[in-house]
Amino acid sequence: MAVQNNESKILVFGGTGYIGSYIVKASINLGHPTYVFSRPNSHKTEMLNQLQSMGAIIVKGTMDEHDKLVSLLREVDVVISALAYPQVLDQLKIIEAIKVAGNIKRFLPSDFGVEEDRVSVLPPFEAFLEKKRKIRRAVEAANIPYTFVSANCFGAYFVNFLLRPYEQTEEIITVYGSGETKAVLVYEEDIGVFTIKVAADPRACNRVVIYRPAANLISQLGLISLWEKKTGRRFNKVHLPEEEMVTLSKTLPDPQNIPISILHSVFVKGVTANFQLGENDVEASALYPDLKVTSVDELLNIFLCNPPKPANAAFA
Ligand SMILES: NC(=O)c1ccc[n+]([C@@H]2O[C@H](COP(=O)([O-])OP(=O)(O)OC[C@H]3O[C@@H](n4cnc5c(N)ncnc54)[C@H](OP(=O)(O)O)[C@@H]3O)[C@@H](O)[C@H]2O)c1
Repeated sequence: MAVQNNESKILVFGGTGYIGSYIVKASINLGHPTYVFSRPNSHKTEMLNQLQSMGAIIVKGTMDEHDKLVSLLREVDVVISALAYPQVLDQLKIIEAIKVAGNIKRFLPSDFGVEEDRVSVLPPFEAFLEKKRKIRRAVEAANIPYTFVSANCFGAYFVNFLLRPYEQTEEIITVYGSGETKAVLVYEEDIGVFTIKVAADPRACNRVVIYRPAANLISQLGLISLWEKKTGRRFNKVHLPEEEMVTLSKTLPDPQNIPISILHSVFVKGVTANFQLGENDVEASALYPDLKVTSVDELLNIFLCNPPKPANAAFA
């Protein structure tokens, strides 16, 4: 799609990363002049080349180059950060630069998970979320126009983790808790499109946007049963009881205690789906009813034909 000059110019931090690359591709496909800030020593050469060939403008630099950040920000309208979790607090440097630049119409920090201001989870995950909350509070205190995104579970990432579809001979699947709790799994391509849409949407300004399309809610047992029907395989489901998950969250060293705590919050406590959306909540598929969203059923069809590669997941 040709770039139209009247579209907002979007800068993505972490644009070569797992979710960042979907966001950058969606931005380009939706016609936005798109910039990717990448470290000089980034090893994501293949992705950088791919994004550049699609039309992304690659800017090399580090978070400590404040003046460079400020001049780059002055060239764009919208900033999206998809930095990885260990770099979450580096976003304070982006916030400082946005304050000096003074022209940014919207900032989306690197959230993209559970609705961190509405959940209470096990301590290792709580400490993880606390860093993200700190960034939200800093954005609000600086009066930067924002959209906070709760994308819930990355669909392909979690299908790869839960079902291990690339292991053709493995018949054992671990089920966290009873397996009956519903979770929200959203396909990464849809997360990319929703994120670009909300970044330029006045209805999403200074709001939290939750990605929770109805066709994307499923329990682990429901997911396994759907996969069994599609593949004709039968799996031996081994349950990891809640008490054992809680014990593991206390005994595993940091940071290995984080994934088990996330699994507990999502698949035992149900934090992606266990609160009602009220009148004041903004849900992405309701904002864009004409946008086709990939259901969990369709996501599994994608896995049958052309399986998305597993990420370097914290869970893997
Ligand atoms: N909801 C979910 O299911 C889910 C799952 C996973 C992650 N997340 C969230 O999504 C967000 C993005 O995570 P992600 O897994 O997509 O990120 P990622 O792929 O691990 O990394 C994103 C990018 O960060 C950049 N980066 C900057 N400084 C870095 C450093 N010191 N070391 C390594 N990379 C550095 C890299 O870009 P350059 O090399 O180009 O500089 C990298 O490509 C996070 O907020 C994370 O918590 C959510």
